[in-house]
This record gives sequence, C-alpha cells and structure tokens, in this order.
Amino acid sequence: MADTAQIEEIVKQVLASMSGVVSPGSGENSGAAGGVKGSIPKTAHVAMLTALEHFDVKEFPMPEVGDEDILVKVEGCGICGTDAHEFKRDPFGLIPVALGHEGTGEIVKMGKNVKKDSAGKDLKIGDKVVTCMIFKDNPDITMFDLNRQNVGGADVYGLLPDDDIHLNGWFSDYILIRKGSTVFNVSDLDLYSRVLIEPCAVLIHAVERAKSTGILRFNSNVVVQGCGPIGLICIAILRTMGINRIVAVDGEQKRLDFAKELGASDSVNFKEHKGIEALTAAVQEKCQGHLADFAFQCTGSPAGHSNIYKFIRNGGGLCELGFFINGGDATINPHFDICSKEITTVGSWVYTLRDYATTFEFLKSAKRIGLPIDKLITHTYPLEEINQALKTNLAMQGLKIAIINKQ
Ligand SMILES: NC(=O)c1ccc[n+]([C@@H]2O[C@H](COP(=O)([O-])OP(=O)(O)OC[C@H]3O[C@@H](n4cnc5c(N)ncnc54)[C@H](O)[C@@H]3O)[C@@H](O)[C@H]2O)c1
Ligand SMILES: [Zn+2]
Repeated sequence: MADTAQIEEIVKQVLASMSGVVSPGSGENSGAAGGVKGSIPKTAHVAMLTALEHFDVKEFPMPEVGDEDILVKVEGCGICGTDAHEFKRDPFGLIPVALGHEGTGEIVKMGKNVKKDSAGKDLKIGDKVVTCMIFKDNPDITMFDLNRQNVGGADVYGLLPDDDIHLNGWFSDYILIRKGSTVFNVSDLDLYSRVLIEPCAVLIHAVERAKSTGILRFNSNVVVQGCGPIGLICIAILRTMGINRIVAVDGEQKRLDFAKELGASDSVNFKEHKGIEALTAAVQEKCQGHLADFAFQCTGSPAGHSNIYKFIRNGGGLCELGFFINGGDATINPHFDICSKEITTVGSWVYTLRDYATTFEFLKSAKRIGLPIDKLITHTYPLEEINQALKTNLAMQGLKIAIINKQ
C-alpha cells in the first residue's frame, strides 16, 4: 500500500513538473506573502476579441509582477450578457479587448507589498481569488465606504482597453491583478461557486434593495417573474433567507421545474393563461389565495413589467431589476398599479463591494441546505473553444455558460 502511495506521489510530481505546476505548499516562498508558486511559463494565453464575433487566442510574454501586483492562474470564467453584447456589437468600442469579468483562479506570484485582500483577509500563494471593481483614480474608496460606490461607475477586469500587458481579462490562462483593484480571497468556495459569484452579487444587491422597503419578510408571499439565471438565483437567495412561499413565473417549463429545485414552492407558466386577469388569478391561487406581498421582476420584457403590478397586494413591494440595458418603455396604469395600491417600488442595478462579501456567505448557505446551485452552469468550454461558447450563449441555450481551463 505504502509503495503504491509513494508511486502515486512521484507520478503526481512528475506530471506537475511537466505542466509547470507544483502542488500546494511546495512552491518557493509558498505560505508567505510575496514569492512564486512553482515554475511559471514564459508566455500567457489571452482570448482577445479581435473582430465582431471573433476571438483569437493570443500568446503574450508573461509580464513582470510589480510590488503591488498579483499574478493569477485562471481556472474559469462565466460568460455574461455584457460579453455577449461586446462579441456581437462592440457597443463600448473596445476591440481588440480581453473580455471575461466573472473569473476566478489561483495566486501563483505576488508582489512583496501584497498582504491582504479587500476584506482584510490574508493572501498567500495558492489562494483562490476573484476580482471586483478597480479604483485606479481613488483606491481609498474601498476603505472609507465599501457601500457607497456602485460598480456601474467603476472599471472591471474584462472590460478594460487593451494595453502593453494585455492580461486584462479572465478569458485567459493568466491575469495580472494590479494596484487599485479589489480582490477577494475565496479559497473556501469550490470552482463553480466562484464562477457564479458575480451574477449572484447582482441578486444579493436586489434582495438588499428589497429589504430596504421593510416589506420583504421571512413569511412573505413572494413572486419571482422570469426564471433565467437572474430569477433562479433570486429564488435561491430568498430560500436561504428562510422564505418558504415563492411562486416562480415564466413561460419555459424546464426553467420552472428548475426553479422548484432551487427553492420555489410553486410555479405558474404564463403561456397557459390567456390574458392578465387569468394569469393574476393563477398567481393568486399559488400564493394561497393572496396576492404577493413582494415581487421581483427578472425579465427584460416591458410586458413583464406591466404585468407584475397586478400580482402585488395593496401595500406590497416591487423590486425591478430586469432591465440592465434599455429594453424600451412599458405601459402601466398609475392609478390602479401604484397610487391606489400604495406599492413601494425599488430599482436595482449591479452591486456594491459589500454585496460581494454577502454573496460568499450565500453560496455557502445554498450548499449547506442542498440547493443544486452548480446546475446553473449548464455548458462548459475550454479556452480554445471560446467562439463556440459565445455562440451557444447567443443561441440562448442552457443557463450559465462558462469557460473552464484545463488544469
Ligand atoms: N439589475 C441588474 O444589475 C442586472 C444584471 C444582470 C442582468 N439583468 C437583467 O435581468 C434580466 C434577466 O436576465 P437573465 O440572464 O435571467 O435572462 P434570460 O433571458 O435568461 O431570462 C429571462 C426569462 O424571462 C422569461 N420571460 C420573458 N418574458 C416573460 C414574461 N412576460 N413573463 C414571465 N417570464 C417572462 C423568459 O422565458 C426567460 O426565462 C435581463 O433582462 C438582464 O438585462 C439585470
Ligand atoms: Zn457579469
């Protein structure tokens, strides 16, 4: 037995040295701030969007790691709607650009001045990290008020203009995290959970906005309209908060079935009900005869926005988060929908740094109570197949699509 174990260990070491990676704890200076993990290749690979609907995987020299920098070996990165917009239309005019902001990986080298992450947790070689916003102009903002700045006004890796370093996005095998970036040590989360952090932060923020109304409580009747990744994560978060009565509304039966796995108590397929009155009656029936105390609008459909008021009781609350980008105007009746019902409405857009910290705890709670959160990632592709991965995303197949690097 001992011999077999020894042989396995030798084989592991040989394989590790062939791929330039040394197992945790055996790297030079590992365990201490500063230093290098194993041998780092001389070049890195970055998927650059070089033309509309076309990535080239380019090879660049591995950059110098400055005293404040962190070199991360990328393990994976989710594909976001924003990546899909850039791929299709380049609305930000960034081509050529290294995309990918929902990424995670392992620290392989860090500058001598890097000691802690943005939450004050120690950082060392081998730790798994994610990045959030970059405050180049005002790095102190993370210290004086984590909650004030919305990510909408900040830079993020994966949406930066190209520069001499090129390792600026998470669709790559290495990324260089520079001074002024927010970085979190998330070594206690598994790879799929880490890939899901960024989209989950959007919903943690939305639920925080909802709580600010004082209407959302543990025993509320809640409607979540739209069961794409956004609505599904919303349901899972509500479930980890102990909310039991969650009615999911969508037109795709498969998504509604998954909504139940993630914590919805019931579901309504809007395609089975003709007209808003019949639909409202169906929602009410699933809410034990009541209208909803609170509703989350998670579709990008103006008709969805118009409908949702009907599902909410007098004095209830609404969080509208379905329009990350302009989706057009929606018609409502101000008298019936808002004024006479005295509905409290909040909008929610992106997240703050504080929401990131809450997200880590949500992901652990979701696992603890057995929600199959990993199943949100329905397709994975290696970096070389990134063009196909984006095409799958644009074809609206599956839920979350991710690039997972070969290790
Ligand atoms: N607030 C934010 O910061 C933020 C961040 C990311 C995404 N978003 C927005 O959230 C929305 C949802 O994102 P997603 O990734 O889950 O999208 P998605 O397209 O995968 O899911 C939308 C779901 O809504 C359903 N739907 C459409 N019309 C409906 C209707 N009238 N009634 C009920 N269901 C209906 C669809 O069948 C689909 O399952 C998007 O429009 C996106 O712009 C907002
Ligand atoms: Zn995103």
